[in-house]
Amino acid sequence: MSSAATSTILVLNGPNLNMLGTREPEIYGTQTLDEVGILVAGHAKSLGLTSDFRQSNHEGELVTWIQQALGTASGIIINAGAYTHTSIALHDAFKSVNLPMIEVHLSNVYQREDFRHKSYLSLVASGVICGFGINSYLLAVDAMAKLLNPET
Ligand code: DQA
Repeated sequence: MSSAATSTILVLNGPNLNMLGTREPEIYGTQTLDEVGILVAGHAKSLGLTSDFRQSNHEGELVTWIQQALGTASGIIINAGAYTHTSIALHDAFKSVNLPMIEVHLSNVYQREDFRHKSYLSLVASGVICGFGINSYLLAVDAMAKLLNPET
């Protein structure tokens, strides 16, 4: 990989994930989103990748970031929080840019309420990783590295 455009993974976090550490710690753990971002950056670096780690509580801002990834990132990892289960706009944004995308969740959403079993993102995801706490993010970085460089 020679240019920044082929080595940057955009890692997006949706609503309420800024509350990690204090939000329902029995479900989401006690580490903060900043700590997750540092772990993701270190893991991406060890695989020769750069991570661009962001969070927004606003659906439209996430849509804009997905659109801007075209030409600036080679893949997207997203924990869209509750927008996973509601957002046709995020679904359409991923279809528009057609970049490799991995959906992640800290919790195993299939062991939880029925409304969390539906994902508008899975339909357009390369794969889905859920239930491993913050390791879901690191597993997603591994999977993205493989997607981008199948020989490694
Ligand atoms: C979540 C699961 C979602 O159902 C929930 O709305 C979240 C977090 C997770 O990481 O487990 O905000 O995406």
